[in-house]
Amino acid sequence: MSSENQSTLEVYERCAVSYLDGSAKHQQLCPEKEAKKRAWLKDFIRDGLAGLPKNARLFEFGSGGGEDVEIFCELGYQITPSDAPDSFLDIMRKKGLNPLKFNILTDEFPGQYDAIYSWRTLVHLTEDDTKLALRKVYQALKPGGRYIFNILNTTGHNNLDEEWVDFDSDYHLGEKRYFKYWQKATLLNLLQSIGFVPKRLEIGGGNDSQRWFYIIVEKPEENRE
Ligand SMILES: C[S@@+](CC[C@H](N)C(=O)[O-])C[C@H]1O[C@@H](n2cnc3c(N)ncnc32)[C@H](O)[C@@H]1O
Repeated sequence: MSSENQSTLEVYERCAVSYLDGSAKHQQLCPEKEAKKRAWLKDFIRDGLAGLPKNARLFEFGSGGGEDVEIFCELGYQITPSDAPDSFLDIMRKKGLNPLKFNILTDEFPGQYDAIYSWRTLVHLTEDDTKLALRKVYQALKPGGRYIFNILNTTGHNNLDEEWVDFDSDYHLGEKRYFKYWQKATLLNLLQSIGFVPKRLEIGGGNDSQRWFYIIVEKPEENRE
């Protein structure tokens, strides 16, 4: 586990409440836009889960405040949320959720899953951390299982691969977090070298210098272990 990820997790441990308050404030700026984003995410997740029975085994890591659990419930599925900082776990428990303490880099997945989900989480992993995380996700998926996730792409003037950022706006925390940016070819090569079959890759959101890759990949049926 990198010192970059370790330090970023320590920031979240201290600033989980500010992060979630900032996130809520940001969403309230334009409720219509937020509702559209949410509807898009629900469709994206629905697509990722297509064909899976309602009793499919699902796991999320880096759940933050656990907001996306509701989307899975609305789609008729149950997902186990998790996160590494206790601050997020406490917040989720206060909402009535039952999260697991789980660090994608240092903990073993507690089972085999039909789908694994992480949203805005791989952004805080270095290249080596990401390789480790993706391999672990692959191993924890059942044959035919899917990984639904997003990760940042840099397209802007700086064309940086990574940086430490504290945003000025609603997401201001007073401390910098580590962010990793990917190029499409590198990312696809990595996913395929691990064995994943890409099912959907879209680019969108973000701003002029950063875009999100929205990705659904599958572990092929024939790779039975
Ligand atoms: C930007 S927040 C996103 C939270 C939530 N998924 C959302 O979309 O609002 C990044 C999340 O990644 C989690 N995270 C970062 N490194 C992690 C690691 N090594 N293992 C598990 N979670 C991690 C953080 O604790 C935090 O919850």
